[in-house]
Amino acid sequence: MKLTLKIWRQNGANDKGKIVDYPVSDVSEDMSFLEMLDVLNDDLVRKGEDPIAFDHDCREGICGMCSLFINGEAHGPGRGITTCQLHMRKFKDGDASYVEPWRSAAFPVIKDLATNRSAFDRIQAAGGFVSVNTSGNLVDGNAVPIPKDDADKAFDAATCIGCGACVATCPNGSAMLFTAAKVSQLALLPQGRPEAKRRALAMVEQMDKEGFGNCSNTGACEVECPKGISLEHIARLNREYLAATVTKE
Ligand code: SF4
Ligand code: FES
Repeated sequence: MKLTLKIWRQNGANDKGKIVDYPVSDVSEDMSFLEMLDVLNDDLVRKGEDPIAFDHDCREGICGMCSLFINGEAHGPGRGITTCQLHMRKFKDGDASYVEPWRSAAFPVIKDLATNRSAFDRIQAAGGFVSVNTSGNLVDGNAVPIPKDDADKAFDAATCIGCGACVATCPNGSAMLFTAAKVSQLALLPQGRPEAKRRALAMVEQMDKEGFGNCSNTGACEVECPKGISLEHIARLNREYLAATVTKE
């Protein structure tokens, strides 16, 4: 099939940027969206033009790197998939598609479609971990009993791949779903409880420092999240944060 891609080109964070039209032909419906961009880039390189910068790594829906806003939807049409899992069979011959980077002040554009999402790393580093006992008296993780329901919920939270679709989709540019998933994952496990208060306070503080907006419960994040992270984790983060605030010394 033939398509017209309307792709955001921006040469660095301070460049104004603009949409540029690229016709592509011989697109197979079995290609992934990223493979289709590879073909376009091969073509641009052959013509001596600057290829389009976009992020990707695993191409298996695991790493969270492929951050594209396609026709106004994070990761494009389809639910529960990342851009690398999006196939061209979702498009029709003759379609025109807009391809843009994540839009958020906290995710500045590096070039074209690639954005800097290290704000997520800093939120994670602020408290999204469990301190390990290195005294030599390690307890086998399996020796700590965990109710199955809690283990399942913690696992669900742990499936967040840090892609940032929740931020890009949120009208407030909020990072609540991401932060909530990371807080929930540990709050639900006994190993995460000793540092739970410190974790909730530090991660929310870092989230605010990074310039993400506030959560107003619109729920768009949950709809566009490729891993189906539930809003119930935001409710848990709010409870964890409130409890940490009222008992802060
Ligand atoms: S909560 Fe969902 S949308 Fe947000 S970063 Fe995690 S996986 Fe991506
Ligand atoms: S490239 Fe890793 S999730 Fe898409």
